[in-house]
Amino acid sequence: VGVRTPKYTLAGCGPGSLRFLTVEVLELAAEAKVLAGASRLLELFPASPARRLPFEGPIDAWLERLASLEEDSVVVLVSGDPGCFSLASRITARFGIGACRVIPGISSVQVACAALGLTWENAAVVSAHSGLPRTWPDETRDPWVVLMGASGAEATVAAVAEHHERHCTVCDDLTLDTERIVRVLPQTLASLSPHPRRIVVLTRKSNHES
Ligand SMILES: C[S@@+](CC[C@H](N)C(=O)[O-])C[C@H]1O[C@@H](n2cnc3c(N)ncnc32)[C@H](O)[C@@H]1O
Repeated sequence: VGVRTPKYTLAGCGPGSLRFLTVEVLELAAEAKVLAGASRLLELFPASPARRLPFEGPIDAWLERLASLEEDSVVVLVSGDPGCFSLASRITARFGIGACRVIPGISSVQVACAALGLTWENAAVVSAHSGLPRTWPDETRDPWVVLMGASGAEATVAAVAEHHERHCTVCDDLTLDTERIVRVLPQTLASLSPHPRRIVVLTRKSNHES
């Protein structure tokens, strides 16, 4: 009995720079019949002859367009890693994991930790991306890596940093030419305008610093 190749390949494209794409994803994109995903990810593969399905409009309508494609294979590009607060989980929920193959990518969480010289084996990843978190991790977890994006995220994360006495480091546009990584006071974080690609890393203060 032959094993059917899953129709959907969910390809992690890293944090945005071509330099952080894997060779695997470059080859998949070059050979793809259809490339689907956010426009900025599609633009990473200008030479691919694939038909393009940009992610736009309401997600449910877009998933139906994916479902109705006649091609038997589609490469869906997702940012970072498909396993971390990703559009990929909407696709596996809609089509079933059996219809999907998952290709890992470098997560923005990994890049943020590496940039700050932090290990992430004890990290807690928190999403303030499509809504504000209702709960926060256990105090023993460190760092807390917060994916930003929701309205009010800066003020909320600033208040949490103040309350839990954690340092805040803002990481915008990781790996891109516009990358900006800066340690800020909570009140400065609270005053920042939202940014589409922002992680805030909250680290525990050691006992002898304030
Ligand atoms: C829907 S989540 C996807 C996360 C992705 N799966 C990952 O592993 O990086 C989108 C959030 O990831 C973070 N993000 C993605 N790319 C980033 C980058 N280049 N710099 C900073 N944050 C980034 C931002 O917090 C953004 O709001």
